[in-house]
Amino acid sequence: MASVRAARLVHLLKGKSAGLIQTFQGRTSFGRNVFGCPSRWQSSMSAWVIDQYGTNEVLRPSQEVPVPAVTSATEVMIKVHAASLNPLDIAMRGGYGAKLLQLRRSPVSVKDRPEFPLILGRDVSGVVVDCGSGVTHFSPGDEVWAAVPPWKQGSLAEFVTLTEYEVCHKPKLLSHTEAASIPYVASTALSALVNAGGLCRDSSSNKRVLIIGGSGGVGTFSIQLLKAWGAHVTVTCSHNAEGLVRGLGADEVVDYTAGDPAGHLEVMEKFDVILDNIGEDTEEWAMGLLKPWSGSKYVTLVTPLLLNTDSMGLLEGTLNAGCSLQTKAIQNIISRGVFYRWGFYAPDGPALDEIRNLVDAGKILPVVEAQFPFTQVPQAFQKLEQGHARGKTVVRVAEDDDMQAEELVQSIRTETPESEQEVQETVKQN
Ligand SMILES: NC(=O)c1ccc[n+]([C@@H]2O[C@H](COP(=O)([O-])OP(=O)(O)OC[C@H]3O[C@@H](n4cnc5c(N)ncnc54)[C@H](OP(=O)(O)O)[C@@H]3O)[C@@H](O)[C@H]2O)c1
Repeated sequence: MASVRAARLVHLLKGKSAGLIQTFQGRTSFGRNVFGCPSRWQSSMSAWVIDQYGTNEVLRPSQEVPVPAVTSATEVMIKVHAASLNPLDIAMRGGYGAKLLQLRRSPVSVKDRPEFPLILGRDVSGVVVDCGSGVTHFSPGDEVWAAVPPWKQGSLAEFVTLTEYEVCHKPKLLSHTEAASIPYVASTALSALVNAGGLCRDSSSNKRVLIIGGSGGVGTFSIQLLKAWGAHVTVTCSHNAEGLVRGLGADEVVDYTAGDPAGHLEVMEKFDVILDNIGEDTEEWAMGLLKPWSGSKYVTLVTPLLLNTDSMGLLEGTLNAGCSLQTKAIQNIISRGVFYRWGFYAPDGPALDEIRNLVDAGKILPVVEAQFPFTQVPQAFQKLEQGHARGKTVVRVAEDDDMQAEELVQSIRTETPESEQEVQETVKQN
């Protein structure tokens, strides 16, 4: 346990020295009244909402958003302590996926669940405040984390309500701010690597995996997960991210900004799985890097499905995307003997249990690049929109509570003299 804490501290020190951790303090732009639990007469809460799609100007703070009450037996209501942003939030703010997501929200009639006001934010770390009568795994007061599905109201709000299946107990040794950086990228990486890539804890030790785009949210998480599972991991990233991805365990790193990443990768031993977080022209050069006729798989997270349904409509867009996927899958299996697949985020609370265990064992660390207070959600969006992410951007929603929790976490991390000594030794070695 002591070495776990030492590793974690060294990681944070490295992050700080590399200028990776920034804190943005700001003035409250709307008077908030954060409660442990919505009182019986509280019917509205604070949230950042959008009432139309567009640029950052559409983000609006509101104190009049209805509290998302528990309405079914399997739901839990969570008081949000921290949320984090993903590229999907920027895209959804602009209307990405609107048609398909609205169909998922209201399959029968749009009146069931109006599109606006819409709350963005896909990650939550917080505390359970209410449970439906059939909830068996959670009770009020439990600290939890979850990835909020894009068809549900998001976590840039005081409260969010999810089904029990979507929620998991939070890692004990992470603050809410740290914990909020993980669930959405973890759920996406698990879905892509396990469901599409065919990897798992027990089958990865002799596998060579290439992660295209290793320095962002999905990449920094995937490197750690694959290393925890024993895989050999090669990563492409910018020159100035090499220290970060190596620190997370990457075995080999290719700087794509130096030009011709394909050329550098072609001289390496071929790969069993490629996880593509970038898209662009990657497909054109990456398929030849896979081992032919041995079950190897290329999985891309950048798919045209939602763009197609937005521009062509639900039926034509889905059919078009399906045909494109089938065509590429058939071409690649016939001509190269490799599988071509699309990866998608999938809600899976129980899968986050495995991630919690890896986090509590010190095998997966949160990579928080920037933090913003709840009053500065537009600034957090701006930061993300600038690109060049190095891990995640987190929004602290319930600041006061979190400061106390942070102190508690810090005291747990440094509670034994042995661990402090080991921390010092590890720091010296690094
Ligand atoms: N299908 C799904 O369900 C799903 C779910 C989650 C995410 N996604 C998608 O997956 C992608 C990755 O997500 P994320 O959260 O990791 O994004 P992110 O946090 O924005 O990270 C992207 C990273 O890629 C780096 N990069 C940019 N161009 C690159 C290139 N040509 N080669 C290598 N690295 C490059 C960026 O840094 P530099 O620019 O400084 O190099 C940045 O670190 C996004 O497109 C996202 O929309 C899809």
